[in-house]
Amino acid sequence: MRERSEAIYERACRVIPGGVNSPVRSFRHLRMTPLIVESGSGSQIRDVDGRTYIDYCGSWGSLILGHAHPRIVAAVCEQMAKGSSFGIATEIEERIATKIVGLLPSVEKLRFVNSGTEATMTAMRLARGFTGRPKIIKFTGHYHGHSDALLIQAGSGVASLNPLATSKGVNLSTIADTLCFPFNDFEQIRSFFRTSPLAHEIAAVILEPITANMGVVPPEPGFLEQLREETARIGALLIFDEVVTGFRVGLTGMQGRSKIDPDLTCLGKVIGGGFPVAAIGGKSAILDCLAPLGQVYQAGTLSGNPVAMRAGLETLCLIEQSGFYDSLQKKTDRLTAPIQNALRGKNACLQQASSMFSLFFGPKKVSAKTTLDEEMFVQYFHYLFERGIYISPSSHEACFISSAHTEEQLDFTAGVITAFIGEQLS
Ligand SMILES: Cc1ncc(COP(=O)(O)O)c(C=O)c1O
Repeated sequence: MRERSEAIYERACRVIPGGVNSPVRSFRHLRMTPLIVESGSGSQIRDVDGRTYIDYCGSWGSLILGHAHPRIVAAVCEQMAKGSSFGIATEIEERIATKIVGLLPSVEKLRFVNSGTEATMTAMRLARGFTGRPKIIKFTGHYHGHSDALLIQAGSGVASLNPLATSKGVNLSTIADTLCFPFNDFEQIRSFFRTSPLAHEIAAVILEPITANMGVVPPEPGFLEQLREETARIGALLIFDEVVTGFRVGLTGMQGRSKIDPDLTCLGKVIGGGFPVAAIGGKSAILDCLAPLGQVYQAGTLSGNPVAMRAGLETLCLIEQSGFYDSLQKKTDRLTAPIQNALRGKNACLQQASSMFSLFFGPKKVSAKTTLDEEMFVQYFHYLFERGIYISPSSHEACFISSAHTEEQLDFTAGVITAFIGEQLS
């Protein structure tokens, strides 16, 4: 039925490990041939077999305006005609940086990189360089890209301080300075900062201020405030990884919503308008430690690429128009409200934050890394896929609504999901 997809995948497997350039795209865990996409327009994607899907992954949250938005296509084409890469400074970098500095309360300066991984990796180096301290704290289930020091699995908390690397090839010496704590556990963090001799070795605490990478898991009220207080007291930096939440949960990110002032912020996804753009931003005193002004080295051949910058700037101009986020919220609620109703009394829950949401099978509430009913997720994914709905292909990921989704599509999707819940969940 998906003959071309199967043939292409088979050929790709001969020349690309697993046939894909990022593991979750392979659909191995879903026991099916991966989606091989041909094109996207608005809220829909079309595969190489001519099947269309309503897309709720949106390039993992990057495409807040949907696919191939005409304004972005025009801006990118215009820039392409002027040259696609120089490796030399351009005005467009200054324009987008000025816009972001004007929007994000804590960001006074920023530097552009090509991926979220690079942004968080740079943030780590910068935090260490600025504070002169070696260790960082992250939270179990939070994903910050695949640099060695952050590629750490479920931590065992303060008791063992001996996290296991998620990947082979990561030296234990590289992760020896990364401590993992459970998310939303006020007591463990407090007791660590107040009593551990290691507390003064902490350069930074990094977290997703709303977690997207174990599904959508917001912080418990007061948790971010506590982190801000404890880090400030001890002279460690607080780093918000807003690669997902930046310009997704509102124009000022989670820092604006929570009114917390992080020292550093990592951005990505939405700021690239579908191109590989990320950034590390924050207080001038910290950012100025980067070369060429300071001693912390960071560089990139394609950083600040003008085509990508144009796509990002155009995106920011469109989403800052009045009413954009209200409309996105209304669309999201239109989809999620009937699902929430259908979930009453079931062994599952839906958690959402602005225009991102996750349906968890098993628990009634998720506030930290939890075991989920993976088999039910596989059935859910297939059920939706067969009906022309594409969701993020993992039980531990978020789904995203874009401004391109129509009311008809949202109602159709709500109908399919509530039918699944009625048929499959007890
Ligand atoms: C919160 C967060 N930080 C960092 C990253 C890494 O970004 P990239 O995949 O662009 O390297 C991701 C990727 O999904 C992410 O969700």
